[in-house]
Amino acid sequence: MTKKQYENLVDINKKSIFHPASSISDVLNNGTTICLEGKGANITTHNDGELIDGMAGLWCVNIGYGREEIGKTMMDSASTMGYAHSFASTSNTPQIELSEKLLDLTRGVFSRVQYGTSGSDCIDTAIKLVRYYNNLRGKPEKKKIIARVNAYHGTTLAAASVTGIAAFHTAFDLPVDGVLRAPKPHFYVDGKEGETEIQFTKRMLDEIETIIIGASADTVAAFFAEPIYGAGGVITPPKGYFQGLRALCDKYDILLLADEVITGYGRTGEWFAHQYYNYKPDLMTTAKGLTSGYFPLSALYIGDKVWDVLVETADELGAFFHGYTYSGHPTGCAVALKNIEILERENLVERAKETGAYMHAQFKEKLHGCPIIGEVRGAGLLAGLQIVKSKSPKTFFERADKAAPLLQSAIREEKVLLRGLPSADTIGVSPSFVITEQQIDTLVSAVVNGAAKVQEKFGI
Ligand SMILES: Cc1ncc(COP(=O)(O)O)c(C=O)c1O
Repeated sequence: MTKKQYENLVDINKKSIFHPASSISDVLNNGTTICLEGKGANITTHNDGELIDGMAGLWCVNIGYGREEIGKTMMDSASTMGYAHSFASTSNTPQIELSEKLLDLTRGVFSRVQYGTSGSDCIDTAIKLVRYYNNLRGKPEKKKIIARVNAYHGTTLAAASVTGIAAFHTAFDLPVDGVLRAPKPHFYVDGKEGETEIQFTKRMLDEIETIIIGASADTVAAFFAEPIYGAGGVITPPKGYFQGLRALCDKYDILLLADEVITGYGRTGEWFAHQYYNYKPDLMTTAKGLTSGYFPLSALYIGDKVWDVLVETADELGAFFHGYTYSGHPTGCAVALKNIEILERENLVERAKETGAYMHAQFKEKLHGCPIIGEVRGAGLLAGLQIVKSKSPKTFFERADKAAPLLQSAIREEKVLLRGLPSADTIGVSPSFVITEQQIDTLVSAVVNGAAKVQEKFGI
């Protein structure tokens, strides 16, 4: 296509598309970026040329772009049937095979799986299931959900309500009732002067216990948490946090949900991040990496604690009246099966661990002397780079300084796409698992050079 033809498309885009999670004035004034193609960890857009996509799209293209094998799987599935529903005890072969495989990957922690098409709908299903479970076991008062400051769980009415980032509530009349907010356990930012990490963990858990007791445990149904935060800042838990949280949930008969929409399927170098942190959730939400973004598919995992209640008591209510037209879509399930086959065949989860270790080591070494990056955190091929105004004494920029978007733009000038996460003044990093060490070197240099430009702008 010629430059003129692209300009025409940008113009049509301006006049026709209401973009999700975008500034309307930015689209109207500055147009759009048209993605053209991708291969491995790289993408090409109409106005950047080729870039390293250090975010794998929206933290999802784990096996990398442009896999013909997945295209063939889709074609075979669509030309065999194209669609099958899962209502009224109906199933399809890819769904059955996928479910067996997924439950195997969770090493016995979960016993059933139900599908949707997005992380948000998966969270919605989980919230409804938590209500259903407590109604069935005669605890109709036990409905509140605890979620954390800065959590990101999606954007439907219910998912946005458990999300703890103010921008997702403003002008939407959210959150809906029944959500309690726990503190963000970010030791580097929220730890007190002289406090050890273990003391910090205890303080965080004590605050959660106070919230439970304050609301009355009889009204609290579940605790939702991403093992590592995503959009809210790639925040890793302080030592012992999930073990303590598990114990608190058991003490007060509260379900623990792991939202692994980003961390699931290998991102941390383990199949699931609850395995990485060594704790057992009762429910787990997943999407993104399930198909590496090639098809919209989510999977909610259900453990025995909930499942047994459903089996014992559900007949009183008749069928489980929840699900979607596309639940268990055969093409989505076939793509997920192929995606997992590729992850296993190419040892990509192991590779995420190894390349991830290389990436973290490079960031730590090359950013050690960088005055505006105070912390490098994460696991596997997931990292958060904490922006600071000064490392010592530790001070942070004001939101109005727009440090994260500025650094994101400066890095993009270096032909690397990373994501500025303004609610935590952090740069998120989440490349495809096929990224090479050489590409990591380029990515790290882009951050170093981008940071130098931002420092200059702030006179640091
Ligand atoms: C942890 C987490 N949960 C839920 C969601 C929502 O997923 P979706 O955008 O597919 O609705 C996201 C999306 O980024 C996420 O990161």
